[in-house]
Amino acid sequence: MAALRLHRHLLQLPKCSPQCCRLSSRAAQAFPVLRGDILPIHKHVYEANSRNSHRCRDRYLELSGKVKLGGGENAILRHTQRNKKLLVRERLKLLLDDENFLELSPLGGLGLPYGDVPSAGCLTGVGRVCGIWCMFIANDATVKGGTAFPISVKKQLRAQEIAMQNRLPTVYLVDSGGAFLPLQAQLFPDKEHGGRTFYNEAIMSALRIPQVAVVCGSCTAGGAYIPTMAEETIMVDRIGTIFLAGPPLVKAATGEDVSAEELGGAKLHSRVSGCVDHFAATEPEAYSCARLIISTLNFDPPPDGANVFEDPLYDTRELAGLAPRDYSCTLDIKLILSRLVDGSKFLEFKTEYGTTLVTGFASIERNLVGIVASNGVLTHDAALKGSHFVQICNQRNIPLLFLQNTTSQEPLPPSLSKAEDLTNRLKAQASMMTSVACASVPKITVVVGGCHGGESFAMCGRSFEPNFFFLWPNARIGLVDADSAPPSIQKGDGSEDGEEFTALLSRLKEESSAFYSSARLWDDGVILPEDTRQVLSKCLQIIHQRKYEKAAIHSSPLLRM
Ligand code: COA
Repeated sequence: MAALRLHRHLLQLPKCSPQCCRLSSRAAQAFPVLRGDILPIHKHVYEANSRNSHRCRDRYLELSGKVKLGGGENAILRHTQRNKKLLVRERLKLLLDDENFLELSPLGGLGLPYGDVPSAGCLTGVGRVCGIWCMFIANDATVKGGTAFPISVKKQLRAQEIAMQNRLPTVYLVDSGGAFLPLQAQLFPDKEHGGRTFYNEAIMSALRIPQVAVVCGSCTAGGAYIPTMAEETIMVDRIGTIFLAGPPLVKAATGEDVSAEELGGAKLHSRVSGCVDHFAATEPEAYSCARLIISTLNFDPPPDGANVFEDPLYDTRELAGLAPRDYSCTLDIKLILSRLVDGSKFLEFKTEYGTTLVTGFASIERNLVGIVASNGVLTHDAALKGSHFVQICNQRNIPLLFLQNTTSQEPLPPSLSKAEDLTNRLKAQASMMTSVACASVPKITVVVGGCHGGESFAMCGRSFEPNFFFLWPNARIGLVDADSAPPSIQKGDGSEDGEEFTALLSRLKEESSAFYSSARLWDDGVILPEDTRQVLSKCLQIIHQRKYEKAAIHSSPLLRM
């Protein structure tokens, strides 16, 4: 049922034209300007937040540096010198128009129970080829031969999901030894395991989302289906191989000595088996060929002329001091908004009502968005307002941006009147959840502070399927906020129970960090506050691309002949 719903949703035609969006964004130039000055009274909070943000930034840079090394120096040497292959980032450079690439979850796979799997063993992200935004799913063979760990499968499935939600042509760069065998039980049997990648490939094809594969390394066992199920496939001579079992297994089973090239090389598959469609003598030739294929997809690349926009009036670097260290260090969300949106201009909706939620319209690099931003506890009035505003954006086909900073639910009510308040609030939050879940417009969520409890669902948490979901490095994710835990837990009272609680609290803190979340792919990546505007602009351009698709919509998969 869920799959059917998703497919119906994906087949919906965009309701408004590109001209209509540009007109709306021109109108946005007349929106009122937000005051974003940081007052002296806020200075101590601003400084505490800044110190915390700098610590988080250092950690982010340290981890980012670590993942860029892939499987480490020896594996890089083996890959480039012995196997004569290009590194995954060099491959992308040859494919993409420019460096404007939205990498997804680069910190995925670090510190897992089965060890570090840098970048989850595959790079995923959205970049442009011939002006068209495409999803890339590229194995990094320096990480254990590009084999698939459970986290790699999760990352590939998420990339396919984003491609489906946003109708992005998808390019697979396949260089993988198949399943990481010691973890096969976590990779093979279940619905969201390895086989789902192939299922998705078929469904994407039926939804007419073009998929192109480049075989630029080993394509063993399950990996062999990726290129074989793609719409068009290119294979690189003497580097690419496709087979279900390699030469050692053939030797063991039949006693025959056969080379990898004879068993499943580019010549065999392009001339005899028909598993691939294009033979490339070298890697650069393969990526040029992939670019040519993309140029035949019949998209009008989105116009470049929309690049004229107003910068915010306030310095985006100040966002570090506005990124709340904890819930008690939260400043007015409009200070953040004034550093994210064009010209710091914002047309607020219901300014005087339910003020712990801020709602309104703004443009980000000329892309009109409806903003729903936490500004305190999601009260009854705030949730009703949120619900109303989400429905307005849905009616007008305007993408939604959620800026989330939620707190944990309060402990049980001490009085009857309080209980009534909480029940009313619960009902209003339930309505908001329904509005958010059922809004068919694209949604983007950025957790700028806390992501706790039920409020986080109403603010379009991960389970509410935002098209993109990012965290600031200071973000804290967990059912309960460790810093708001009852004082007895906070201090520990020396008793056995107290010690247990102290241990629980410290685990809660560790498990609530943005990096812990991102390593497990509970989000699409940690982004720095000062980069947020550019990231959001990219996401909105990607989301709008479907308006430029020209080929007719139909629903049947393409079968390899
Ligand atoms: N499961 C677990 N580990 C694997 C693996 C697999 N399927 N395939 C490769 N590895 C590991 C190797 O043990 C090695 O680990 P190390 O760096 O700790 O020594 C690392 O990946 C690199 O493999 P190596 O063979 O040294 O590199 P290579 O570049 O010469 O070859 C492959 C890479 C993928 C072509 C080759 O390892 C291979 O054919 N693997 C087996 C593929 C297979 O049969 N898969 C079936 C899965 S169902």
